[in-house]
Amino acid sequence: MSKIILTGDRPTGRLHMGHYVGSLKRRVELQNSGAFDKIFIMIADAQALTDNFDNPDKIRDNIIEVALDYLSVGLDPAKSNLFIQSAVTELTELTFYYANLVTVSRLERNPTVKSEIKLRNFETSIPVGFFTYPISQASDITAFKATTVPVGEDQLPMIEQTREIVRKFNTTYNCEVLVEPDALIPENSICCRLPGTDGKAKMSKSLGNCIYLSDTEKEVKEKVMSMFTDPTHIQINDPGHVEGNAVFTYLDAFATDEDFAEFCPDYKNLDEMKEHYQRGGLGDVKCKKLLLNVINKELAPIRARRAEFEKDIPAVYEILRKGTDVAREMAAQTLSEVKAAMRINYFDDDALIQGQQARYNQK
Ligand code: TRP
Repeated sequence: MSKIILTGDRPTGRLHMGHYVGSLKRRVELQNSGAFDKIFIMIADAQALTDNFDNPDKIRDNIIEVALDYLSVGLDPAKSNLFIQSAVTELTELTFYYANLVTVSRLERNPTVKSEIKLRNFETSIPVGFFTYPISQASDITAFKATTVPVGEDQLPMIEQTREIVRKFNTTYNCEVLVEPDALIPENSICCRLPGTDGKAKMSKSLGNCIYLSDTEKEVKEKVMSMFTDPTHIQINDPGHVEGNAVFTYLDAFATDEDFAEFCPDYKNLDEMKEHYQRGGLGDVKCKKLLLNVINKELAPIRARRAEFEKDIPAVYEILRKGTDVAREMAAQTLSEVKAAMRINYFDDDALIQGQQARYNQK
């Protein structure tokens, strides 16, 4: 069986370091591993509209931001199809048919949807489109017969629900048209959830605590130098805490032993630095300066690629258009298999028409 990746992001804002360690970096590694037959990376604008339907320009403007972020981290259109969800209309059609296989109570039990409903104050009136987006996500995944869906942990309930839909479809229609996907989540727990620069659990646009992939060196410097550390570490000689200290969590996620040799040779590695911090006598500024160097080293090639792509925006749209054409072709193939399995392929089934004729001839 071919190994196929599908994944994507809602274009509600620029992508940040949390997205990077949580999934983008991995995608590029998977892309370059050569282990996959096809890779589809989707800008999920239709899904983004399920809770931004009244703000379409936000989605419209962020398509290009996300595309630039993708290209700048090293997703290569020659290896990965980058496409726009709403332009693959087959996905909407699949969603309509899969909706027959899912109950309202099952959707209500989806923990990610549950918490998002709370977050958006939708409790008293949930838009149907938003409520049913896990079904649409199943269409995204199955249309490409994806075997592998690299995502953050919060997406596990969506993959589980997709697997249920696949099983239900294949048993109901006694076929093997759809493929059960596996989620691929980050191995490392810090990468599952990078905290915000304010120390809050998650980087999030609405909290204003993100370091964006497209931030300039100056912006990153301001953010890192004012980062949340350990509020009990007041004097340099006070013993410090590394748990819950965002600077150390970031260093855990990014700093390598080579980084210490290059930027902070007083310590061999992060363990030595942590040890000194905990003992007392190591100031926050030194740790922040190291972190700033480490982040800038990671972001420098990303910034350089972004600057190149920004020079020719029409070419970026052209990449998306081409990727979308390829995606449509694959989704159309799956849709036609789905319709055949569901017995609604009336016009491409000669036997059907002849058979009906025979029935009437017997009258
Ligand atoms: N729900 C995902 C997010 O919020 C985006 C998404 C839409 C997605 N369809 C998908 C991810 C299919 C993986 C597979 O980031």
